[in-house]
Amino acid sequence: MKCMYKRKLVKLGIPLGVVGIILSMSLTQNMTTSALKQEETKEKEIYVAKADEVTNTVNDNQRDEEKTEQKQEQVEEKHPINYVSKPTFYQNVIAVSNPDSMLVLVNKNYALNEDYEPSDLVLPNVLSTDYNQNQNIYLRKEAAIHLEQLFYAAQNEAGLTLLARSGYRSYQTQISLYDRYVSQNGTEKADTFSARAGHSEHQTGLAMDVTADSVNRQLVTDFGITPEGIWLKENAHRFGYIIRYLEGREDETGYQYEPWHIRYVGVEAATEIYENNWILEQYLNKKS
Ligand code: DAL
Ligand code: ZN
Repeated sequence: MKCMYKRKLVKLGIPLGVVGIILSMSLTQNMTTSALKQEETKEKEIYVAKADEVTNTVNDNQRDEEKTEQKQEQVEEKHPINYVSKPTFYQNVIAVSNPDSMLVLVNKNYALNEDYEPSDLVLPNVLSTDYNQNQNIYLRKEAAIHLEQLFYAAQNEAGLTLLARSGYRSYQTQISLYDRYVSQNGTEKADTFSARAGHSEHQTGLAMDVTADSVNRQLVTDFGITPEGIWLKENAHRFGYIIRYLEGREDETGYQYEPWHIRYVGVEAATEIYENNWILEQYLNKKS
């Protein structure tokens, strides 16, 4: 027994001589036991501390994961403000209730009545691709005035000549156009670039298709990389217009990129939409 105590006392770092004295003085077993117990307690404390460290690390990791989850939840909560989830087109179509508003929403889910025709259509004083007396470029008055200013600024500020190609279109005209595209391209393809009747912004009198001689007066995506198309993209908002069908947003708008299709919404809304790189649906969601 004494031998065991001796070994343990030495292990504790007590000099051999002192160990000898302790044992020889026949210090009570209680004292040595107490010293050993203290050592055991110390070891136990170290172990507990280490175990705590591990536990804390696990807890920290859990907390980190919880934080990440919370962050994800926050991002998801924020999503509706800046993100329009992929809609289902032409299902549960809603009738437009504010057709005369400058902020009217007409898309694959909101439709105008077949009888709707704006009461203030005018012929804007701008150049057009139409050699037949500008029959196709009528717009509502406020949109027409702003289009004139837009075309004038393009010429005056940048020396660029914009040409108007298609403005107001009636419900009946849209039926003929869409049907022609379907027979030429099939429904699936036609739906990527042509609205079904009642679903075209052209029926609002607030939309205009714009082109230039640099793309032979055609409505093609290459217009977006011409000086005219670039200028239009960067300046239309100053005159209350937005590029309605943006590149990369096809799943949300339901249409291919159309750098030529501008939509009048008013200067304030157009500027906010442009500066945030939004589509109209996003802006209206945010305001509602
Ligand atoms: N090209 C646009 C989507 C329209 O047909 O109204
Ligand atoms: Zn258009």
